[in-house]
Amino acid sequence: MLVASSVDSARDILKTHDLIWATRPKSSIVDRLTYGSKDVGFSPFGEYWRQVRSIAVLHLLSSKRVQSFRGVREEEVANMIIKIKQKCDSSSSVINLGDHLYSLTNNIICRAALGRIYNERGSEIDAKAILEELLQLLGSFNVGDYIPWLEWVNKITGLDTKVDKLAKKLDAFLESVIEEHITRNKKKECSTGEAKDFVDFLLEIQNGKDTGFSLRRDSLKAILLDSFTAGTDTIYTTLDWIMAELLREPRAMKALQNEVRRLAQGKSEITEDDLKNMQYLRAVIKESLRLHPPNPLLIPRESMKDVKLLDYYHVPARTQAIVNVWAIGRDPLSWENPEEYRPERFLNSHIDVKGLNFEFIPFGAGRRGCPGSTFGIAVIELALARLVHKFNFALPQGIKPEDLDMTESIGITTRRKSPLLVVATPCSS
Ligand code: HEM
Repeated sequence: MLVASSVDSARDILKTHDLIWATRPKSSIVDRLTYGSKDVGFSPFGEYWRQVRSIAVLHLLSSKRVQSFRGVREEEVANMIIKIKQKCDSSSSVINLGDHLYSLTNNIICRAALGRIYNERGSEIDAKAILEELLQLLGSFNVGDYIPWLEWVNKITGLDTKVDKLAKKLDAFLESVIEEHITRNKKKECSTGEAKDFVDFLLEIQNGKDTGFSLRRDSLKAILLDSFTAGTDTIYTTLDWIMAELLREPRAMKALQNEVRRLAQGKSEITEDDLKNMQYLRAVIKESLRLHPPNPLLIPRESMKDVKLLDYYHVPARTQAIVNVWAIGRDPLSWENPEEYRPERFLNSHIDVKGLNFEFIPFGAGRRGCPGSTFGIAVIELALARLVHKFNFALPQGIKPEDLDMTESIGITTRRKSPLLVVATPCSS
């Protein structure tokens, strides 16, 4: 295994020799949870991966599709604002903002991917609980992947049983979602009015409609799983870190509120059309992703051939590469005062999230770079703009900005360890 912690080594792996590093290392836990790695994120490089990735890029996550979920985003962000307001009305006490951000993200992904929310009161299935368990297991260390003769350890620790149980639960959940769609679609065969979700698009592809290739049921379920594992936690984690940084840096919070409130021009509701000119908002998001990339080590790659790294180091085939985006985002060779939270550094800067500037690659880069960045950014921008438009935020009494706990948790995404407790005061603007 090698760890790339410099801009040059990241560029070498993700751009110069991207094709050689375009596969993922095998993991038996991932395999059992994703129908034999049939999803996009973990499937090995090859024709199958090309097909499922192009389905995700063209049919689920393209700009046009992301635009088609605008109503879902606006409704769910509005619901979150109402819920926070209700909490503020009932008491001026502290709220757990992190919980609201998590529910928002989960609801948007559930509605876009599966057509409805699966953790409402009275709902038979709790998608949130399933997701938590899934992320925990995907992030767990499997000794057998590194030292095969120690595979038996997982039986003793109970890891194997946990994985098998969750795989069954996940499958039953996804089967019920798909069956619900098939029944619903039969009933309203020709109706076109209702917004389609990922399951609808994937069922059309399964039937070979428009695309020319067909999709097996396991692949369909594995692709759906990607939206949860790759989508929900990353968006939630980004929003949580952004709000924490803004609470620690009241100057940046003020500058953001000034921009948002000025451009909202006295409107009661910000829409996505208003976001276009919000330069500071975009700078705040980038600065937070620089310091707190949700996947600080990307998703590991594996070399398919021998390769020379930086024209010097001989790296044999089947070496795992971990790109340390966290360290690269804090490298003093690329960033002035890197530990400082200063969104202004991104104003009038050409540095973008597209994976072309290797000092800033929170979405990875190259062939295996994130196909969901447009989807993710659309949610983050709207949620952030509406939150700072509608509320003033402060830390609970007695906590100074510099005392806010910024400890990171360990896992497939790096969340803040402690809950984000704030006092939110609605503003009249
Ligand atoms: C703030 C939000 C997000 C962040 C920071 C993020 C970050 C990442 C990163 C770092 C990778 C690995 C890239 C690499 O290996 O070079 C990745 C891959 C991926 N992401 Fe995202 N992601 C986000 C949102 C989403 C969303 C919303 C979806 C879909 C609904 C998504 C779907 C995927 C998929 C399918 C892959 C695997 C691509 C492949 O292996 O070919 N992501 N993401």
